[in-house]
Amino acid sequence: MFVEATMDRDALEEALNSAYFKHKGTYFDARNTSPEVIDDIEHMEIRDDDVFLVTYPKSGTVWAQQILSLIFNEGHRNGTEQVVNVNRVPWVEYNVRNMDYKSRPSPRLFSSHLPYYLMPRGLKHRMGKILYVCRNPKDVMVSYYHFIRILPHLKFTMDWETFFEVFLLGRVQGDSWFDHVRGWYTHKEDFNILIVTYEEMKRDLRSVVKKICKFMGVNLDEKAIDTVVKRATFKNMKRDPLANYDFVSNEKLDKTKGSFLRKGTVGDWKNIMTVAQSEKIDKIYWEKMGNLPINFLWDLNEETAS
Ligand code: A3P
Repeated sequence: MFVEATMDRDALEEALNSAYFKHKGTYFDARNTSPEVIDDIEHMEIRDDDVFLVTYPKSGTVWAQQILSLIFNEGHRNGTEQVVNVNRVPWVEYNVRNMDYKSRPSPRLFSSHLPYYLMPRGLKHRMGKILYVCRNPKDVMVSYYHFIRILPHLKFTMDWETFFEVFLLGRVQGDSWFDHVRGWYTHKEDFNILIVTYEEMKRDLRSVVKKICKFMGVNLDEKAIDTVVKRATFKNMKRDPLANYDFVSNEKLDKTKGSFLRKGTVGDWKNIMTVAQSEKIDKIYWEKMGNLPINFLWDLNEETAS
């Protein structure tokens, strides 16, 4: 039974408690992982050429999975191999026990939503490479709101006002956006890391692809870069069966209610957020992130930096 939008506080609390568990300071989706799996990750052996893509949920993970897949796998780029992205860049926190990552050929690519302090210890010694993608919290929140509506196992829906509060309380998988981004940003010196924003990818994808190639030490000629950029646009990913997540069953992702690749824009928050809500986020943003030199664009038409 789905708990409806206007559910009372106790029912909401109960639904959230059964959907997520808190472990070592952050919330995880109870269907997909367990505390034991999370604990194992710390001990994962790291190779120097491992690549970890890390994001807070709804920040462009699947987009970056596609980019990394195309950069590293020629067979993906030239269409001779048909492997879905999520298998090329598998999730550590969902799969670390059963994906036989030790026998994966190098360079191994992984995805994760983990906070910096739960990552494999080896990475903290600047081994391996991390690509961290972050997105402005207003668009993340809106994307997340639509996303939970297509996850049947959550057994709840929430109206926007309720989700707004739940998100700011960090009662979602990934916990608080502010803690995640701040944590990674302020610990970047501990890792071999490249931080890029969703908005800069939107504004100039080609430059970001080149930046990623340089950081990864992968030399692609201009034609190959063109192919990566072309296949990573929203429009092309939406119709790419290896990248659009349509391969996930309706049981796990109810595609009758929406798509994983929903709008792919910057500034969609303006369509749903009230002025008061937007100002509330601005205030929290400045309190928690104001002293960090991260530049988010809140709208592609504005050059507002914060
Ligand atoms: P929207 O819901 O705002 O459309 P994640 O993969 O971390 O869950 O993030 C999903 C968000 O990234 C969704 O945002 C999705 O549409 C967007 N996205 C995925 N591929 C994209 C692309 N090629 N270009 C722009 N946005 C993309």
